[in-house]
Amino acid sequence: MTQSDLIFHELSGSALEPWLDGLGQLRIAVFREYPYLYDGKLEGEREYLRTYVDSADSLVVLVTEHDQVVGATTCLPMRDEGPEFQEPFIKNGYDIGEVCYFGESILLPSFRGRGIGKDFFKRRETHAQRLGFRYTAFCAVDRESAHPLCPKEYRPLDEFWKSQGYVKHPELQATFVWKEIGEETESPKTLTFWLKAWIK
Ligand SMILES: CC(C)(COP(=O)(O)OP(=O)(O)OC[C@H]1O[C@@H](n2cnc3c(N)ncnc32)[C@H](O)[C@@H]1OP(=O)(O)O)[C@@H](O)C(=O)NCCC(=O)NCCS
Repeated sequence: MTQSDLIFHELSGSALEPWLDGLGQLRIAVFREYPYLYDGKLEGEREYLRTYVDSADSLVVLVTEHDQVVGATTCLPMRDEGPEFQEPFIKNGYDIGEVCYFGESILLPSFRGRGIGKDFFKRRETHAQRLGFRYTAFCAVDRESAHPLCPKEYRPLDEFWKSQGYVKHPELQATFVWKEIGEETESPKTLTFWLKAWIK
């Protein structure tokens, strides 16, 4: 298979509607892996993705192969996100109107390692620059070192993120709740933001 079998769809706001289940299923499959260990349900996905449908300035890039969603990346203005995303920025003196939030970059394992992850950053950064944002930001879950469910072959993405110009900001932490594999109910998880500043 070559990259030419893949189609990249750039969608915004309500154009995402027909793709919600495909994207939700991909999120459930990829985030089930370490380090997220997310035990997701499609209903919860539809609710989470509604924020992107309702944001006129969101960008969702879907990668399809034969109409199956095999990869995706998302972003939207931080002002359109929920308070749990905004709070660490407000607390640390940022103007949330200046921040574009990058939600996720996800690919089924067999599509990784061909440069699509880098392309996802470029597409979202182009979108953020077009809208005049001063910061682009994403967050990643914090896990203890030597987590019992960490696979031996797991490679952290920190070096990749640094290579894309992002800096980890330990003071910018958020708490999100989700049900982890093996858990009976949802529990809180701490995530730390990474930021890139753009000259305005
Ligand atoms: C994040 C993700 C989309 C990156 O996609 P990708 O297409 O494999 O990335 P690229 O091919 O552009 O590679 C980018 C860099 O990542 C690193 N990398 C490649 N394979 C990797 C792997 N298996 N694990 C960790 N890093 C890897 C390399 O440094 C590579 O740069 P290089 O080619 O210059 O050496 C993909 O790894 C993924 O879906 N991960 C699971 C979901 C996730 O954790 N997403 C991030 C949080 S939302």
